[in-house]
Amino acid sequence: MLKGFKNSPELDFSIPENKEAMLKAFEQVDKEKGQDYPLIIGGERIMTDKKIVSIAPSTKEVLGQVSSCDQELADKAIQTAHKAFQTWSRTPAEERICCVRRLVDLMKKNRFLIDAWSIEESGKNWGEADGELCEALDFFNSYIMHMRELDKGLELVDTEEECKCIYIPIGVGVAVPPWNFPLSLLAGMVVSAVITGNTIVCKPSSDTPIVAYKFVELCEKAGFPDGVINFIPGSGSVIGDYIVQHPLTHFVNFTGSKEVGLRISQKAAEVSEGQIWIKRVVAEMGGKNAIIVDSSADLKRAAAGIANSAFSFQGQKCSACSRAVVLSDVYDAFVEEIVACAKELKENQGSGRDDLPMGPVINQNAFDRISGYIETARKEGTIVFGGNYNDSKGFYIEPTVVRDITKDAVIAKEEIFGPVLAVIRVDSFDEALEVANGTEYGLTGSVYTEDREHIQKAKVEFHVGNLYFNRKSTGAVVLQHPFGGFNMSGTDAKTGTRDYLTNFLNLKSVCEDL
Ligand code: ALA
Repeated sequence: MLKGFKNSPELDFSIPENKEAMLKAFEQVDKEKGQDYPLIIGGERIMTDKKIVSIAPSTKEVLGQVSSCDQELADKAIQTAHKAFQTWSRTPAEERICCVRRLVDLMKKNRFLIDAWSIEESGKNWGEADGELCEALDFFNSYIMHMRELDKGLELVDTEEECKCIYIPIGVGVAVPPWNFPLSLLAGMVVSAVITGNTIVCKPSSDTPIVAYKFVELCEKAGFPDGVINFIPGSGSVIGDYIVQHPLTHFVNFTGSKEVGLRISQKAAEVSEGQIWIKRVVAEMGGKNAIIVDSSADLKRAAAGIANSAFSFQGQKCSACSRAVVLSDVYDAFVEEIVACAKELKENQGSGRDDLPMGPVINQNAFDRISGYIETARKEGTIVFGGNYNDSKGFYIEPTVVRDITKDAVIAKEEIFGPVLAVIRVDSFDEALEVANGTEYGLTGSVYTEDREHIQKAKVEFHVGNLYFNRKSTGAVVLQHPFGGFNMSGTDAKTGTRDYLTNFLNLKSVCEDL
């Protein structure tokens, strides 16, 4: 059992001071809207002519223009990071940890403003945004703790020789975080790289570049030397392959779609001219997560957990449930319960600022893709709730429940990344496990049951990186539920753990005969 680590508590927005502070932060965001943001390379601010326009998904309002990096500037960023590595990699771990500790303080001091920007740019509600900030703080605190341990090196047997095995940083990393956790995953990728003595080039998502910029600004204030953290928003098609294949890149840390993750993996495996190492890839990709409900389950509890897993943040978490796999004898009763939950959510849908349980999806492309899946669902099963969508003011899609979906239907197979739940009927618990496992992914899964034998069986046979019982499939907490998936869900690098940091370290064995 890990002692001495405490997860960061989320803000309680029912406390008037917290609500007031949040509303003030939105006023500040409104004042800042429409600005131009530069790249940051070696501490230098660089404005480019080409811009990424950040759009609020709740309102379609333009939030700002962020400079877009080309290959020449991407090369400059990697060369700069490579140069900074020469000193940062030799900076004592405690010095690096000091910077992260200052970052923890700065994040807390700027908490409301960061939350407000995250809400505006991603469309998430207040609790989801602050939960993410807490996750970022938890990552920092866990990495501080693990880095101190790793800095002691590996314990070896005592001999007459002087033997040591020490962890050393590996080089320049490329971080490609996603838009759905624009703060915590970006922050976790950056800090895990730099606390271990590496330097990083960060290409944030084009949907959430302003939150990313705000974070990098705080890193500068925290005292990370110029060149250790470089910020290069840009189009994947222009600089994506380039930064992965650059001969000075040592590792790539990616979270996003399976297609991009596999491409990164392939490109990173090709040796570029002048490259003298094998690149490491950490990739967290998609999911087609299932929650099983058996005949012994508390159906109200199951429906509430599944609704939360499928519809919170509009189903846009890689951990989200998109398949409820339900035993035949409780199928109809379960459908009634989940419809009741979805109904309540639909009545509580609005902008991120409105702080309701459901908000918009991230952008027009996502809206078009998800609404396309809803039309497919109409043909493949029966939509018993939702099914409407409207992009006149923002990208809003109703929580949608589809029953009578077969295990081979398109919406039972493909990752939708939106608020659409397929409810699949099965005749036995064995069949439920077979259906749940019948996907190329293996990220999260959950089982609602009161049956100990089923619990035992699922523990062995349900093949997912994060398995839960009688609980939602989302909301993994750092060092309580280390997160990462199997199969096409990724490389199973469990974020927040000591093992995670070793992705960015080499182990050097040193021996002196005395
Ligand atoms: N780590 C996130 C969750 O568990 C994706 O929901």
